[in-house]
Amino acid sequence: RLVYVLNGPNLNLLGKRQPHIYGSETLADVEASCRALATELGLEIRFHQSNREYEIIDWIHEARETASGLVINPAAFTHTSVAILDALNAFDAPVIEVHISNVHKREAFRHHSYVSLRADGVIAGLGTQGYGLALRRLAQLIAAKA
Ligand code: DQA
Repeated sequence: RLVYVLNGPNLNLLGKRQPHIYGSETLADVEASCRALATELGLEIRFHQSNREYEIIDWIHEARETASGLVINPAAFTHTSVAILDALNAFDAPVIEVHISNVHKREAFRHHSYVSLRADGVIAGLGTQGYGLALRRLAQLIAAKA
């Protein structure tokens, strides 16, 4: 079972960028723990990050053909991107939205998510642990469908 883990803009700076908000783990650390957990869960993962909206859209299109589920932290595109929402609306398998920080505790412009209109579940404020919890949930949803 293949799942995609997609990350939006500025998450390449994870660990260096505002560590008081996002913690000190890097995206490479997150990827390593996702890979270890995926093996345990019997999932194969494609893990990507981009600062470009179209690349994220293209990966969602690719996932449409191949994946059984998707975890996405759209970062700032969460709050702006109808295009990412539309791409996710064309994806039929389970989607879990992850935010490292508790967006609801932050500025008002972070309280609205276009992606939440499609996501089957949303995790916010659990730090980078949110990715692992999202993968566990995806594994359950995929198993329930099979
Ligand atoms: C984020 C929250 C977003 O509001 C922000 O733009 C990010 C990261 C998070 O993981 O907490 O870049 O998605």
